[in-house]
Amino acid sequence: MEGQVEGKVALVTGGASGIGEAIVELFAREGATVVISDIDELRGPDLAQRVTKAGGKAIFLEQDVTSEERWIEIVAEIAKRYGRLDIMVSNAGIGIGIAVPSIVDMTLSDWRKQNAINLDGVFLSVKHCLPLMRKTGGGSIVMMSSLAGLRGAPGLSAYSATKGGVRLFAKSIAMECAAAGDGIRVNSVHPGIIDTPIWGKIPTGATGAGQNAPIDPEERARLVAPLGRAGHAAEIASGVLYLASDASRYVTGSELVIDGGMNAGGVSRRQ
Ligand SMILES: NC(=O)c1ccc[n+]([C@@H]2O[C@H](COP(=O)([O-])OP(=O)(O)OC[C@H]3O[C@@H](n4cnc5c(N)ncnc54)[C@H](O)[C@@H]3O)[C@@H](O)[C@H]2O)c1
Repeated sequence: MEGQVEGKVALVTGGASGIGEAIVELFAREGATVVISDIDELRGPDLAQRVTKAGGKAIFLEQDVTSEERWIEIVAEIAKRYGRLDIMVSNAGIGIGIAVPSIVDMTLSDWRKQNAINLDGVFLSVKHCLPLMRKTGGGSIVMMSSLAGLRGAPGLSAYSATKGGVRLFAKSIAMECAAAGDGIRVNSVHPGIIDTPIWGKIPTGATGAGQNAPIDPEERARLVAPLGRAGHAAEIASGVLYLASDASRYVTGSELVIDGGMNAGGVSRRQ
């Protein structure tokens, strides 16, 4: 049976862990050649090796998405190796803001760091990948936003600002590509609470406001997600595969919410 992204070349930023890792594995199983980019030089090569051993095609390229210089090198490397780029998933992101009890506790340097990765990184990904994608006849761009890019929550304002920015950036780039008639579709994905390593990386007490208990995504989701549990990275990856593949060829400027029902409303559940 032919894979859903057979013969396509895909770049996944932040591809070494969590949601990115699940996307890499699924794309490779579905026939794509996957370029895993990440700052994590341990997990990245390990994942590429695992995918290759399982019969898939993947390589790892070390990349900090905030470096424009590195973006130029990455795109040149992809052009040299494969001569094309069909799918670009701008997934790398961090959640510093999630631990901050109030916006008045947030430092300007943390605000800037989060913006640099979550927003500047996405801008640079599009700026540098679009020309190669256009040259080779179009494709699909998927940007990882969040439920936090759709609605507000206390303590999440800085993170939400980046993810809300990604949401409308995706829609505007979708319009730019549609107007150009370049065959490139652009959509955003909005995960709810997904059990990945990101939750363990949220700095506790980084603001000087005392140590916060580490956030347990399963516990949090049990209380607030209508489906009563945290999502799995693979459940986001299957949505990304749909947007990346030709199955979604009439879908652009759209937002795919995968959140166990959180954006739709709430259900009361006994503790
Ligand atoms: N897990 C969730 O509940 C959740 C919910 C909504 C949105 N998201 C978003 O999904 C995306 C993936 O998150 P995850 O949960 O898989 O987290 P994760 O921490 O498991 O993975 C993120 C990856 O991004 C990489 N990364 C971080 N900074 C980078 C940089 N400067 N350059 C390149 N790579 C960098 C990390 O090394 C890591 O491999 C993020 O954009 C996140 O905001 C996650």
